Amino acid sequence: MSSIPTSSNPRLADSFGRVVDNLRISVTDRCNFRCRYCMPEEGMVWMEKSELLAFEEIERLTHIFAGLGIRKIRLTGGEPLMRKDLYLLVEKLARISGLNDIALTTNGYFLAEQAMQLYKAGLRRINVSLDSLDPVKFNVMTRRNYYSKIWEGLDAVEALGIRPIKLNVVLIRGINDDEIGKFAYLARTKPFIIRFIEFMPIGADDGWSRDKVVTTAEIISTIEREIRKRLVPVEQRGIQPADRFVFEDGIGEIGFISSVSEPFCEHCNRVRMTSDGKLRTCLFSLVETDLKAMLREGASDEDIERAIRDAVAKKEAGHLINQPTFVRPSRTMSQIGG
Ligand code: 5AD
Ligand code: SF4
Repeated sequence: MSSIPTSSNPRLADSFGRVVDNLRISVTDRCNFRCRYCMPEEGMVWMEKSELLAFEEIERLTHIFAGLGIRKIRLTGGEPLMRKDLYLLVEKLARISGLNDIALTTNGYFLAEQAMQLYKAGLRRINVSLDSLDPVKFNVMTRRNYYSKIWEGLDAVEALGIRPIKLNVVLIRGINDDEIGKFAYLARTKPFIIRFIEFMPIGADDGWSRDKVVTTAEIISTIEREIRKRLVPVEQRGIQPADRFVFEDGIGEIGFISSVSEPFCEHCNRVRMTSDGKLRTCLFSLVETDLKAMLREGASDEDIERAIRDAVAKKEAGHLINQPTFVRPSRTMSQIGG
């Protein structure tokens, strides 16, 4: 099958005319951290390993997606590097024609040992979750004492020349919201783009409430007050979920994902595949399409293609976090892929 969409094989689009070209693939629901906005300290039940898609299965599905116009892939978890040989998957995906971007979101714990293999396999973009610049507070956020290990990983990535390195930061009011200025300073002194992601009601036992969300508007005014430089919006090519800003003197970039205060849904171009092969057309979807069952029952590429098109056609208009009717999906972030 060709990986280039043709007129007889048009690109994936939904009923609102949004073209979908971005796929997030979760490779495992397991994680060695217990970030408080994501998982409880104890009691997580993991999927059976046999439920997870094998790399060959992910490769086949990704090939089909590329044929439908998917251009960007992001590997997520849980913690994706819990699959120690993830570089083998990256190698496979890097060979698929049509894909022009393979990225990874990780907690950084295994980067010190895996960054080189991942880079050699073709990975060029990495987001690392880092919610605190203080070892004690890092421990409060992640419930793990791994602060220095994450920095070993970041140093390894920096030394390899992988750019950009994005740091994902989730703020919870009353815990790490006093570190906004420190993160802004980091963006000005290291090759990191800081991306503040608003706290969303999608974790297991995450204690979410609206008053704990530190909004983008609030973060921007705190940064400008503490750094004493204005943030200016970056002209963006294409549509991206993050609103990007640079400091007025051009040193340092900060991005904001305002999922709660200013949802990006209207321009959303992404779909997600869970580690057990379910296609989800929104992080907050209440329905899924079981691609793994199709694969394992011997469906043809054409059958799978049709199932993907049908699912995408029904992509939700947007999430309903801000509506009284909001219902949390039964799967949580680590089971869906961040
Ligand atoms: N709200 C916002 N972001 C979250 N993430 C995980 N759970 C949440 C949540 N409840 C983000 C983490 C990580 C990425 C995978 O998803 O910051 O970087
Ligand atoms: Fe693990 Fe990521 Fe969830 Fe933290 S946010 S517990 S690193 S899956």
